[in-house]
Amino acid sequence: MEFRQVVRARRMVRDYDPRRPVPPEVVDRLLDHAVRAPSAGFTQGWGFLVLESPADRERFWAATTVPGWAPTRWLEGMSRAPLIVVAHGNRDAYLDRYAESDKGWTDRDEARWPVPYWHIDAGFAAMLILLTAVDEGLGGCFFGIPPERTAAYRSQFGVPDEFTPIGAVTVGYPAPSPRSPSLRRGRRPMDDVVHRGNWS
Ligand SMILES: Cc1cc2nc3c(=O)[nH]c(=O)nc-3n(C[C@H](O)[C@H](O)[C@H](O)COP(=O)(O)O)c2cc1C
Repeated sequence: MEFRQVVRARRMVRDYDPRRPVPPEVVDRLLDHAVRAPSAGFTQGWGFLVLESPADRERFWAATTVPGWAPTRWLEGMSRAPLIVVAHGNRDAYLDRYAESDKGWTDRDEARWPVPYWHIDAGFAAMLILLTAVDEGLGGCFFGIPPERTAAYRSQFGVPDEFTPIGAVTVGYPAPSPRSPSLRRGRRPMDDVVHRGNWS
């Protein structure tokens, strides 16, 4: 697919055909593209938990769901996804990398960071998973794990403390699903968001 078509076709898919698993070579491509994301200092301080078996996916939804957290329809559709990839960022990996001699931030002071690059880089990788899914004729949806469920999620899957789950991506063949009510907001006009030469 043309890149511009991929970008324009991408939308969050919240219901999936449960009878169609993601082919193994496509899972590999999603991950191969994810690790092509840029990363600060080429730290690559990310980690991806890949959940495919029904039992693993069930454990994910059980660990991460808070009663009332999401509409039942949302959860029903999302839990039909045959693949979940959870993207994580490792802050310590970045602090270690930037303490190396070419960067020199030996104090490991977080105040030096304009924003937490460990979250940015994992987000870039998640975006590549979403775009690759579209390119492969599939769909995906990025969503966060509720903070009050992060500990349960970590312990269920043995995720080390230094890794923060920045979000999960469901992937699969799309089933017809209602669009998000958020879209009623409409896309903001370019002139509202793009400032050329000066902000005002
Ligand atoms: C950081 C982030 C968090 C999001 N969290 C959720 C979520 O928890 N549940 C959900 O259904 N969609 C979530 N979304 C998807 C947005 O609702 C969606 O991207 C937005 O409405 C625009 O729609 P589109 O991506 O289909 O164009 C999230 C998107 C981002 C970037």
